[in-house]
Amino acid sequence: MARSTLCAFMLLAGLSAAKYIVPGGRWHATDGSLVNAHAGCVTVDKDTGKFWLFGEYKVEGHTEGAGVSVYSSDDLATWENHGLALAPVEGHEYISPHHIIQRPKVVYSKVSNEYHMWWHADNSSYGLLLQGFARSPNISGPYTFVSATPPLGNWSQDFGIFTDRKDGRSYALYSNGDRREGRDVYLSAFNEDATALEKVVHRFDKYDLEGPTIIQTDKSYYALMSHKTGYRPNNVVAFRADSLAGPWSQPFTVAPLNTRTYNSQSGFSLTIQGKKKTTHLYLGDQWDQNSNWESRYIWLPMEIDDRKKTLDVVWNDVYDLDVKSGEWTAVEGKAYLAADAKTAGAAFKQEANFASKNTIVTGIYGNDSTVTFEGITGTGQPQWVSFYYQNTDDMGFGDQPGGTPDRIGGTWQLRRIASVVVNGKTDKVETLFQRDTHKGIILSTPLLLTLEKDKKNTITVGGLWNGFDYKGADLDRIVVYPPEKR
Ligand code: GLA
Repeated sequence: MARSTLCAFMLLAGLSAAKYIVPGGRWHATDGSLVNAHAGCVTVDKDTGKFWLFGEYKVEGHTEGAGVSVYSSDDLATWENHGLALAPVEGHEYISPHHIIQRPKVVYSKVSNEYHMWWHADNSSYGLLLQGFARSPNISGPYTFVSATPPLGNWSQDFGIFTDRKDGRSYALYSNGDRREGRDVYLSAFNEDATALEKVVHRFDKYDLEGPTIIQTDKSYYALMSHKTGYRPNNVVAFRADSLAGPWSQPFTVAPLNTRTYNSQSGFSLTIQGKKKTTHLYLGDQWDQNSNWESRYIWLPMEIDDRKKTLDVVWNDVYDLDVKSGEWTAVEGKAYLAADAKTAGAAFKQEANFASKNTIVTGIYGNDSTVTFEGITGTGQPQWVSFYYQNTDDMGFGDQPGGTPDRIGGTWQLRRIASVVVNGKTDKVETLFQRDTHKGIILSTPLLLTLEKDKKNTITVGGLWNGFDYKGADLDRIVVYPPEKR
């Protein structure tokens, strides 16, 4: 089929040529490796319009100080790995492998015609609270270390950058630490060159927030920030203002309460000004404290109503974003309910008025206490399957010392791990991380599975060892999505 005919066919069939964005999935780069760029930013190449993703490179057994990685993409879904943009230097005063190199952000400086990288530079105990600065003539790097300094004499912890579309001026956003004297988030203007901070524009006083980012619409600025719960997610809030200097509104939540912002922390946002539509994306991190190097990305569209002065991060399991037109569409999947599935062993169906057909399957454990979804139609190609679950640990582990975080002194266990087996093939077990939700809160998390074509497939879910137990989370349903069209 000629390319144009193929495109016309795809348009008629309502399909897009783009790859899907799947929040919380294991994202693989074109070289097959996991996309490893956390708490960073996406910077648009001034010449080519290409998207460049920078982030913390996290290595198994070594969660901090591994440098800043960089990937490129034309569609925000297919990522090419370019290695490290900023590599740690053994023995360096600020960027040794033992230092914290967190939340890197990259902006283009017109004055120097270079790309400038800024980040939270620190020692391993968060004792320095500085801002690191490195530069490169090429967006992909390598970046050369310049300095690590206190911003206008202050402390600086979680770091963000915002560039105003009205005048191209960049601003730093930084929480000034957890000490009593800190607990603010600063918004400070860079000089024109983006080589130093010039002045404080606003201070979000004593809200004790972090993970800051700003989104700009035609009429408003929205500043998103998370609470301070380390690598555990919480309910992210936003402030709104007509101007960066304020007055800023009261903070308000941006996602349904107790979803803990769909298990994510804020950190960056991206505006796509397409030919037909402007789409604002929330670029959050789904940390995994047990295996930080495997943390995921929760990238979601935001719905903003400047008249009502509201901003909502909207959940989608799988969506298709056209970066040229700016439009995005939710991909439709087919649901299979746990209420209609078959249980084995001690797994059983329990009344749950917040679940599909008032029923949730609980007691999923090990190899024997499982739930099997039957009659699933496949395509023979890899397809995303979302598992809708409830994890009642509430970020804790009831029978461990410390108990759940909903008690004083609670500890947080970040996930249960389910086993997922297609068509009874137990030699190929997929691992599904099910991070804590909250009692009565159902969230979803995806796996890429290959189901046989047109066959009535089965998917069996059990429990794997998570360091404490073999429990899988309670299941509400699965949703099977069509394969990507390339
Ligand atoms: C929060 C911060 C991260 C990191 C972790 C460490 O999540 O936003 O940048 O410092 O805490 O616990």
